[in-house]
Amino acid sequence: MHGCPIGLIGWGTVGGGVVEILQRDPQLLPERCGLDIQLKTIVTRRPERERAQSPGTAVVTDRLEILLADRSISTVIHLVGGTTVAKDICIACLDAGKHVVTANKALLAEHGDELFARAASRGVSIAFEAAVAGGIPIIAALRDGLVANRIDAIYAILNGTCNYILTRMEEEGRSYGDALLEAQRLGYAEEDPTLDVNGTDTAHKLAILARIAYHSRIPIHAIRCEGIQQITQADILSAKTMGARIKLLAVAKRGDGGLELRVAPTLVPLDHPLASVRRNYNGIHVLGSAAGPTLLVGQGAGALPTASAILADVVDVCTGRYQATASRFRFFSAAHDVALLPEDAELTGSYARFHVPDRAGVLASITQIFSQHGVSILSIHQGTPDAQGHATIEVVTHPLTSRSFFAAIHSIDGQQVTLTPTVTLRRL
Ligand code: HSE
Repeated sequence: MHGCPIGLIGWGTVGGGVVEILQRDPQLLPERCGLDIQLKTIVTRRPERERAQSPGTAVVTDRLEILLADRSISTVIHLVGGTTVAKDICIACLDAGKHVVTANKALLAEHGDELFARAASRGVSIAFEAAVAGGIPIIAALRDGLVANRIDAIYAILNGTCNYILTRMEEEGRSYGDALLEAQRLGYAEEDPTLDVNGTDTAHKLAILARIAYHSRIPIHAIRCEGIQQITQADILSAKTMGARIKLLAVAKRGDGGLELRVAPTLVPLDHPLASVRRNYNGIHVLGSAAGPTLLVGQGAGALPTASAILADVVDVCTGRYQATASRFRFFSAAHDVALLPEDAELTGSYARFHVPDRAGVLASITQIFSQHGVSILSIHQGTPDAQGHATIEVVTHPLTSRSFFAAIHSIDGQQVTLTPTVTLRRL
């Protein structure tokens, strides 16, 4: 049996999941891979409160330097959120010669270049299966299982909070606000759900996936990102009449003109495999040049699913397998720059819902502005006006560039043809 003392920094929900897995089935990993993983030191901001639940003989402290100075600990689970203190702590661990296993997607999406270069220079590695899609082993799948494929496209639902909200709006007719409250109550949403619902969390995860899939540096600001905050029951019902469901979709697609990257609320046809990924589940549809389509579905967040991914990385690192992979593939530190598809070359069909006064000339103004921007309309529908004489006009376009579409939308909103900001969706 190979003894493996490890450190844990940040004892929150996921840290608790790690402790629970190790405690409830202590023989699992020794039997499977001959590793005796022992949590030796836990660094937390509240050591007094948490010492009572401390597993085994673990030292619980708020002093990071105790962990850093312990030469018997070569692997540290880093579960600190954010990108400032979390970055300093990650660097301190790397500089102390420790491998880092982290779930922090924002940290890697924003500072991956620097951190992976630092790890390489210190002869250690950073493992990050838990950073994307929780319990789904998508990083290993892209890195190892699909290594003989060029990845033509990735379509993915990567935020459980958004998927839960959209599902409940559809299943129960809930408003966006009520569904968000429910997601928070169930612990799917982060404490501050802004980064969930505005698409940033999904963009961070997409940056990491695209990095592995295309061996390229992906500047986070290159990902066009829209959230779900504007979606109402009217959009959910429109999607239904179009034979589709709305999903917050991350897209990475390789084409002649470059790599297309975006996060946007998208109309997914009911017969597409991602349409049936419901509630808090994540789903990733990968199109490989040899394997063809592969679909991975599972829980993208939560204590045990995320801890499952953390411990998979710990095993990989403690057996030395991960270091061999990381040094050969060097997906972060040696990545090249990929050509990104310019916004005026990206083609998708789109949907817009305008909230307008029901009076002569409104429809004409909208269609005229679309025509000025070269937007070709596939279908148009006006609903029955309400008691105030306000109506919704829904337009579905032929495939066109996002630049033309959004230029038209901004122009329509800017000319006060609309009563509230126009809601837009992409079509898959
Ligand atoms: N809050 C995220 C989600 C999980 O709802 O999927 C962590 O990224």
